[in-house]
Amino acid sequence: MKAINLLGSTGSIGTQTLDIVTQYPDQFRIVGLAAGRNVEMLASQIRQFRPEIVAICVEEKLPELKEAIKDLDPQPILLAGEAGVAEVARYGDADIVVTGIVGCAGLLPTIAAIEAGKDIALANKETLIAGGPVVLPLIEKHGVKLLPADSEHSAIFQCLQGVPKGGLRRILLTASGGAFRDWPVEKLPEAKVTDALKHPNWSMGRKITIDSATLMNKGLEVIEAHFLFGMDYDRIDIVIHPQSIIHSLIELQDTSVLAQLGWPDMRLPLLYALSWPDRIYTDWEQLDLVKAGSLTFREPDHEKYPCMQLAYTAGRAGGSMPAVLNAANEQAVALFLDEKIGYLDIARCIEYVCDRHQADNCQNPSLDDIIAADQWARQEVLAAHKLMNQGNRLISLASTAQI
Ligand SMILES: NC(=O)c1ccc[n+]([C@@H]2O[C@H](COP(=O)([O-])OP(=O)(O)OC[C@H]3O[C@@H](n4cnc5c(N)ncnc54)[C@H](OP(=O)(O)O)[C@@H]3O)[C@@H](O)[C@H]2O)c1
Repeated sequence: MKAINLLGSTGSIGTQTLDIVTQYPDQFRIVGLAAGRNVEMLASQIRQFRPEIVAICVEEKLPELKEAIKDLDPQPILLAGEAGVAEVARYGDADIVVTGIVGCAGLLPTIAAIEAGKDIALANKETLIAGGPVVLPLIEKHGVKLLPADSEHSAIFQCLQGVPKGGLRRILLTASGGAFRDWPVEKLPEAKVTDALKHPNWSMGRKITIDSATLMNKGLEVIEAHFLFGMDYDRIDIVIHPQSIIHSLIELQDTSVLAQLGWPDMRLPLLYALSWPDRIYTDWEQLDLVKAGSLTFREPDHEKYPCMQLAYTAGRAGGSMPAVLNAANEQAVALFLDEKIGYLDIARCIEYVCDRHQADNCQNPSLDDIIAADQWARQEVLAAHKLMNQGNRLISLASTAQI
């Protein structure tokens, strides 16, 4: 029986993890739950899973949560704020922490879990992208396992089982192409939030769905793969695969290619991260290749998806640049979701901010450097937004960004 602390329990990853726990009560139990602000859902999860400890990040919501579960006996330990979320991450006898928080907010709780010696089922990719230079040495130091729960990285991880050290030649990440894969580039200036949220294959949280439309999600996954599998950027490629049946592939030194296939269902990579190295029998729908039909592939269009190249460039720059890319993306996507900037402004803001960070890129960042870079990038996007509102255009020309 594995004991789990679940961070981001009210989100897409969180609720799917709880589906698994419900389905396999003999294999998994919940020790701790943490969420952002959704009191109603969190209270109902507390009733169902009876965790020992719970945190809600938005402190003002704590009284409401207390009221919603006041009849429960015994009561869980109830905490609030970022410190409370980190406390859940490190709490008790949990074997593994599922990181389903969205964004760089997942970084500090993940570090808390690692320092407490917990294995990590990593869904929160932003943690590794921003904090890779700090997180990886901590993983090593505390001897914990970092188990990928992102479907692409889980696919690579699964394919790698049994591959000898040095056997891997290339990683091939598949991408659905997101909401705009069949839109002509000329139509993209009209793209609305509602259009961008219509993912063709996956049902996910709002931020990652926008990242899928821009293909920043795939760019972030390239950086995630670099950190997880120690692969040079030149040996990580992206291919558009509209059916999302092949979740990613690896090429070995002898050109043999291995792939992992399945219906697009995040429970599968989550289950593998939780059960590794074992395989658990499920009654989930088996893959039917005839029903899946043709599996097609095409090259990603760089004009349509400029964020992809921005991510490769930031990844290659290394240091604090991936943290800046990630934070600029988070802030720009938040502005887009609030309908404050247009769809194409997302990439413009990110490029502008990354350009401005080049001279200050810190090659061996500490945690403080990463947090400072993250905060700086968010402020820069807000400043850029203000300038755009005053009628200026953001122009980023390779290394000389100007307004
Ligand atoms: N969804 C997928 O299929 C999928 C696939 C691969 C990777 N991922 C990655 O998994 C992560 C979660 O994605 P998602 O789609 O599940 O997002 P989501 O549906 O938006 O859920 C985000 C969760 O994080 C919680 N949260 C936000 N800020 C928090 C904070 N400061 N402290 C504690 N909890 C906080 C939210 O709580 P409230 O809702 O209560 O505010 C919610 O439970 C992302 O990093 C994403 O890239 C997701």
